[in-house]
Amino acid sequence: MKIINKEIAKAFLPKRPADSNKGTFGKALCVCGSENMMGAAVLAVKAALSAGVGYAVAAVPEKEKDVIFTSVPEAVVLPVGDKEEIASFVLKNKIDLVLAGPGLGKEKASAYIPFLLNDLKLPFVLDGDGLNALTRADAQAFKTPCVFTPHPLEAARLLCLKEPPCEKERENAAKEISRRYNCVCVLKGKETVIVYNNEVFINTTGSDSLAKAGTGDVLAGIITGFWAQEGKQNGFSFGSALRAAVCGVYIHGLAGEDAALDISSYSVLASDLNKYIGRAIKKTL
Ligand code: APR
Ligand code: MG
Repeated sequence: MKIINKEIAKAFLPKRPADSNKGTFGKALCVCGSENMMGAAVLAVKAALSAGVGYAVAAVPEKEKDVIFTSVPEAVVLPVGDKEEIASFVLKNKIDLVLAGPGLGKEKASAYIPFLLNDLKLPFVLDGDGLNALTRADAQAFKTPCVFTPHPLEAARLLCLKEPPCEKERENAAKEISRRYNCVCVLKGKETVIVYNNEVFINTTGSDSLAKAGTGDVLAGIITGFWAQEGKQNGFSFGSALRAAVCGVYIHGLAGEDAALDISSYSVLASDLNKYIGRAIKKTL
């Protein structure tokens, strides 16, 4: 078990060569948001961009696309409708990885998750309702490297437990999710645990400033942004997924701490974290 420190986070941060273009840093398709939860899509897509992804596509409901145009002008919008349209967009635009889940809503998640995870054959990060849409048949079924980011209640569902794992049980629960689903598991909470293949990392950055809805969406975006860059340059593997998850969780926590220093932990909003992502990266480099 390793405690994530600045040296580890620095070593795992993706490189940014001078001789680069947006293709160097990966293209992410973010299938996020639904009628009542477009904020989650905004938070996740913005965070992926602030973490350094080259190109972010927000796949959102057609009638909500103005939310993205207004709040994240850097993102490309793909109205989510026909699955074949998504598949052809992915091929045509050479999308590298998928983030699915933040704010997706249960109904949309169950309609799209099997297609996104199995048919697109891309590496993926799965969060929130994306995780809730998994069934037992999905255990060990995925053919591509993936990262799961459950909070304790989502972890309980993945493991068919009645109660969320308590602090003492968290490492074993993360190991079991990683083993059962063959994923990098990021089991969130105070001192988030990150596991793949018996490699265990514990994060100590972060504070109660992060105990507010929306911060998980930001984390999912940061991990996606880091993995896009690392994977594009060194290959999309479980190894690059683990590195992105470890430095993503560390930077997310540091951003929360820095935001609290400025405006108190009471008042930090998930949307405030965005401007602290860059500051946290700068401190870590
Ligand atoms: N100390 C350190 N980190 C913390 C703390 C704390 N006291 N409290 C929360 N965090 C961090 C977690 O480690 C995680 O990274 O904040 C993040 C919270 O993520 P989630 O629990 O996924 O919360 P979020 O998705 O933003 O909001 C609630 O989850 O239950 C679902 O559907 C529900 O949309 C809702 C959403
Ligand atoms: Mg969440």
